[in-house]
Amino acid sequence: MNENNSRVRFPLMALAMLALLAAMWGGLLRIGWQWPTLRPGLLMAHGPLIVSGFLGTVIGLERAVALSASFKSQRWTYAGPLLSGLGALTLVVGVPGWPGPLLMTLGSLGLVAVFVVIVRRQPALFTGVMALGALAWLVGNGLWLAGWPVYRVTLWWAGFLILTIAGERLELARLLRLSGAIRAAFLVAIGLLLAGLLVTVVAFDLGMRLTGVGMIALALWLLRYDIARHTVRKTGLARFIAACLLSGYVWLGAGGLMGLIFGGVPAGPRYDAMLHAIFLGFVFSMIFGHAPIIFPAVLGIPIAYHPTFYAPLILLHLSLLLRVAGDLAGWFPGRQWGGLLNAVIILLFLGNTARVARKSGDR
Ligand code: HEM
Repeated sequence: MNENNSRVRFPLMALAMLALLAAMWGGLLRIGWQWPTLRPGLLMAHGPLIVSGFLGTVIGLERAVALSASFKSQRWTYAGPLLSGLGALTLVVGVPGWPGPLLMTLGSLGLVAVFVVIVRRQPALFTGVMALGALAWLVGNGLWLAGWPVYRVTLWWAGFLILTIAGERLELARLLRLSGAIRAAFLVAIGLLLAGLLVTVVAFDLGMRLTGVGMIALALWLLRYDIARHTVRKTGLARFIAACLLSGYVWLGAGGLMGLIFGGVPAGPRYDAMLHAIFLGFVFSMIFGHAPIIFPAVLGIPIAYHPTFYAPLILLHLSLLLRVAGDLAGWFPGRQWGGLLNAVIILLFLGNTARVARKSGDR
C-alpha cells in the first residue's frame, strides 16, 4: 500500500472508531444504564455519531480509497471522511451548537462530490442509486444543521445506508443478467423509498409509512434476486457473506413493516425497535459480512475467513430479537439487556476481526 495514503487512512479509521465507541456509550445511557455521562450531550449525539461519524466516515474513506486506486491518487476525495470524522470529534469532546452538524454536513457534501465523479466516469443504475444514497445523507445532515429535530432526519440517514447497500448489491446482481422486468421492480422499490423520504418533509407520518413500504419492497427484491441466494450454497467466506446479507434483508423488511404499521413516531420503544431493526439488524449484518473485504481494501491488512465469524452474527440477531421483543412487549429489562448485548457483540466482532487480521498478517 502507498505509505502516504496509509498515513491518512489509519487516523481517519481511528476517528471513525472513536465515534462508534462514544455513540455506543451514549446509546447505552439512553437505553437506561445509569453509568457516567462522560461528556455533555453524548446521549443526544448517539444517532449522529454512529451514522455520520462512524458509518459516513468509513463509507467516505472506502470510496476515496477505491477512487484513488482506479484513477491515480485523488487526495481531495479524503476531505469528506476527514470532515465527518472531525465533526464526530467535535461531538465527542462536547462542543455545543453548529460546529459538529456543519462539519458532518460538509463531510456528506464531500461524498456527494465523489459520487459526481464516479457517476460521470461510470454512468449506470447502480452508481446512480449509490449517489442518491450520498444525497440522502447530505439532505439529512442539512436538515439537522438547519435545526430540525433528529427524529425527523433519521429516515434520511437510513435512506443513505439503504441506498448505498442496494446500489452495491445491484452492481453484483449484474452477474445474474436480470431481465428488464426485474430491474423495473427494483426501480419501483427505490422509487417508493425515495417518495417516502420526500413526503416525510411535509407529512411525517404518511412519509414514514410510505418509506416502510419501499423498504419492504426492496427487502423482498433483495431476498429474491440478490446473488446471495446462489452463494449461500457455497462454502467458507462466500457462504458467510451470503448468510449476513440474507439475514440482514429480513431485518430490513421487519424495519419497513414496523415503519408501515407505526407511522411517524418521534421517540420511545416503537421508535427504538423500528430504527434498530434497520440500523443494527440490516446495516450491521452488512458490515459483519463486508468487513473481511473492506478492512483489507482500506487498511491493507489481509483477513482470512475463519468460522468464528459466525458467532457475532448469530449473537447480533439473538440480542436484537431480545431488544425488539422487549420494546414491543413493554418489557423494559429485555430492551435494556438486548441493547447492552448489541454493544458487547459489536465489540466482540471488532476484537475477533482484529485477532483474525493479526493472525492472517503473521502468516
Ligand atoms: C449498539 C447498541 C445501541 C444502543 C444501546 C442504542 C440505543 C439507542 C436508544 C436507546 C435510542 C433512543 C430510542 C428511543 O427514543 O427510545 C437510539 C436512537 C437511535 N439510534 Fe441507537 N443504539 C445502538 C446502536 C445503534 C446503531 C448501530 C445505530 C446506527 C447504525 C443507531 C442509530 C440510532 C439513531 C439514528 C437513533 C435516533 C437518535 C435520536 O432520535 O436522537 N443505534 N439508540
